Amino acid sequence: SQANIGVVGLAVMGSNLARNLASREGNTVAVFNRSRSKTDELVAAHPEAEFVPAFTYDEFAASLAKPRTAIIMVKAGAGTDAVIDALVDVFEPGDIIVDGGNALFTDTIRREKAVRATGINFVGAGISGGEEGALTGPSIMPGGSDESWVTLGPILRSIAAVAEGEPCVTHVGHDGAGHFVKMVHNGIEYADMQLIAEAYDLIRRGTGKSPAEIADVFAEWNRGELESYLIEITAEVLRQTDAATGQPLVDVIVDQAGAKGTGAWTVQTALNLGTPVSGIAEAVFARSLSSHPEQRSVAGALPGPVEALTVDDADAFIEDVRLALYASKIVAYSQGFDEIRAGAAEYDWSIDLGAIAKIWRGGCIIRAQFLNRISDAYAATPELAVLMTAPYFVEALGRAQGAWRRIVSTAAGAGIPAPAFASSLAYYDGLRADRLPAALIQGQRDFFGAHTYKRIDREGTFHTLWSGDRTEVEAEDTH
Ligand code: 6PG
Repeated sequence: SQANIGVVGLAVMGSNLARNLASREGNTVAVFNRSRSKTDELVAAHPEAEFVPAFTYDEFAASLAKPRTAIIMVKAGAGTDAVIDALVDVFEPGDIIVDGGNALFTDTIRREKAVRATGINFVGAGISGGEEGALTGPSIMPGGSDESWVTLGPILRSIAAVAEGEPCVTHVGHDGAGHFVKMVHNGIEYADMQLIAEAYDLIRRGTGKSPAEIADVFAEWNRGELESYLIEITAEVLRQTDAATGQPLVDVIVDQAGAKGTGAWTVQTALNLGTPVSGIAEAVFARSLSSHPEQRSVAGALPGPVEALTVDDADAFIEDVRLALYASKIVAYSQGFDEIRAGAAEYDWSIDLGAIAKIWRGGCIIRAQFLNRISDAYAATPELAVLMTAPYFVEALGRAQGAWRRIVSTAAGAGIPAPAFASSLAYYDGLRADRLPAALIQGQRDFFGAHTYKRIDREGTFHTLWSGDRTEVEAEDTH
């Protein structure tokens, strides 16, 4: 029988996605893996699923109805290029190749251009939700052409998570737009995780509560405005006891955070775009700092504060931490969405930011009730230059800022690192400032490099003759 969709790469994510596809009405799924055994295992383990196993690329192509549509689920990198080349050899113009891995969006732009030249469609699709999401319903962020979306849309809608009745998939934009948005999703994921970790650390050090007791705090928070998958799983992790030692599991896990690169890409890209995603950057750097034991071994050599942290009212302190977390989270999402806007402008994608917030409400790692507030904000003001200036967020930040400031100063005073809390607050105050000391930086740049400056009271570009008589002259604009 002919399949309407194929999956190449049957490691955990690929097999789960293939099973998800096969479980939906109307889909027959061709499956192919470089080594035959994975294909045999998948088919044998799931007799209920309508799989069409293929053992060569030719068989795979022959098993697919036209336009042939295949999703590549291999580890991002050179392997992806090899699979694309093999599919291009056996596919025809009008067919569709989807890369469902965590590819760097610039690779996707390059691949889309090369594949398009053959008449075949290439779609980079971000897929979030981990192994379970792939099986039961991920959030999907596809880029690629409008033509490919006609065929792909119904298939992806059939397997995506559903949030408030709507499938968590939308055609994000052309070529690399989908992978760009997935990258920023991961950047926000890093920030959210770091903020939660800082909140946990402050509560633990401030109140002496055990991880299991702090799990209760997070479970409680998960019933309010912080409700989200990451808060929910935080409670689960904190409640876990290590079978071998009887200790809280979190106390026996080595405190060095890993990373596979998507967070760093988000920050590198933001640097290139000139978009400040400082909270996300702090989260990436906090993982780096944790993972350098040779640097951390100097700990004892660096003096700390004289006064230890004292918390008189534990409940009030915990509420302050909650508000600081909420405010910092708003900043992280605001920065992430600003980066998507900047990326869309740079790469000429038309991205509906409200639709992105909606497809993140289900299936993905950062799924949260809170995302409704973001789609509301963009529905009211599509051109919103800074997400957190939407009325709902302004109100929330106003309500939280006192607590946020207390927590950041308490952490600094007690020598507890809270980089993402602190940097988010600094960003907030930076945006609020009437005047920034950037004026002084312009003066310094003009002093040592004649880089010129603008004046607040007159049009034009100016330079002071610093090494001469220090009079001001009109100058060429050099930025
Ligand atoms: C998702 C996740 C996933 C990511 C992991 C690991 O949306 O399902 O973002 O794509 O690869 O979370 O990321 P790190 O290893 O970099 O933490």
